[in-house]
Amino acid sequence: MNFIETQKPEPPEDIDFEAIRGAKLQAVMRAMPKAELHMHIEGSLEPELMFELAQRNRVSLPYPSVEAVREAYAFDDLQSFLDLYYAGASALVTEDDFFALGQAYCERALADGVVHSEVFVDLQTHTMRGVDIGVVFRGLERAVHWAAQQGLQLKLIVCFLRHLSEEEAFKTLEACLPWREHFIGFGLDSSERGHPPEKFSRVFASCRELGVMVVAHAGEEGPAAYVSTALDDLQVARVDHGVRSIDDAALMQRLASERVPLTVCPLSNLKLCVVDQLSDHPLKHMLDAGLAVMINSDDPAYFGGYLLENYLQTQAALQLGARDIWQLAANAFSASYISQEQREAHMTQLNDCFRKAAQ
Ligand code: ADE
Ligand code: ZN
Repeated sequence: MNFIETQKPEPPEDIDFEAIRGAKLQAVMRAMPKAELHMHIEGSLEPELMFELAQRNRVSLPYPSVEAVREAYAFDDLQSFLDLYYAGASALVTEDDFFALGQAYCERALADGVVHSEVFVDLQTHTMRGVDIGVVFRGLERAVHWAAQQGLQLKLIVCFLRHLSEEEAFKTLEACLPWREHFIGFGLDSSERGHPPEKFSRVFASCRELGVMVVAHAGEEGPAAYVSTALDDLQVARVDHGVRSIDDAALMQRLASERVPLTVCPLSNLKLCVVDQLSDHPLKHMLDAGLAVMINSDDPAYFGGYLLENYLQTQAALQLGARDIWQLAANAFSASYISQEQREAHMTQLNDCFRKAAQ
């Protein structure tokens, strides 16, 4: 049975974290097994593949070249990114395109030591353009299968686009029912401000009745109050981002005592101007307050780094120690929707990695 663990993971007493510093700590970050719980598959579309697919499918992109797309990756806020992200996703048309997209992400994830990844898919972005839901699911399923053979477990979470209506979300939920075995849950993403979680209370109640996991983006650009309503009205198992929770001391206490997992994305927060500099990021503060935070890449093709790069840059910017890195990696396995046996196997490998480095 798969579930999310809410007990705080504690490290084995025999690991000497003080002995792991500098280059040793960087080597541990590279080598350790990792879980990723917040990554949009459309956000892993690199410009080269975007252009290749657009040409093949005769889709026109608002940029003349790969270089011009890369140059446009200077965002002021979430919406300025989403405009480009949705334009890029329009290059994806066939089952082979979705397989190529999924496989490309898996290759990067495997190189980064990811062993388990729960990946968002923005179905409505594709169905609204006339792409059949089966094209998306079948293509990604082939990538899931390919990844499993390489030692990476990939699971899909279907996100509702919150700038669209409740009715559209219900239609998407209905359309997903025949594909039930292809995904583990539902999420909520896209433009946050002005689209509070409670807009989708009834949709999420229907999702929960199906017995699937539910998660939601909240407190990325939107206020801490959206984190509270994601918990109270949508009853989410995890909050995606949640960094604005730092504005509400009572909420911080609640998140710590309930051990609500927050899938934090440091490089995303930097690129979307949620923080001015990585060294200003509240991740360390949240970790020290006992919150179940971990590191994720969000939209790695757009934000300058996949999961390992997020770990390396965040560790350097916040001066995180080996004990912090262990906690972040362990929190990710705790918050993964996996069986206890899988969790224990990953934790054994994680601990072995740190133990070896400390010797
Ligand atoms: N869709 C893709 N990336 C997103 C993000 N960072 N926030 C909200 N919706 C998204
Ligand atoms: Zn996201």
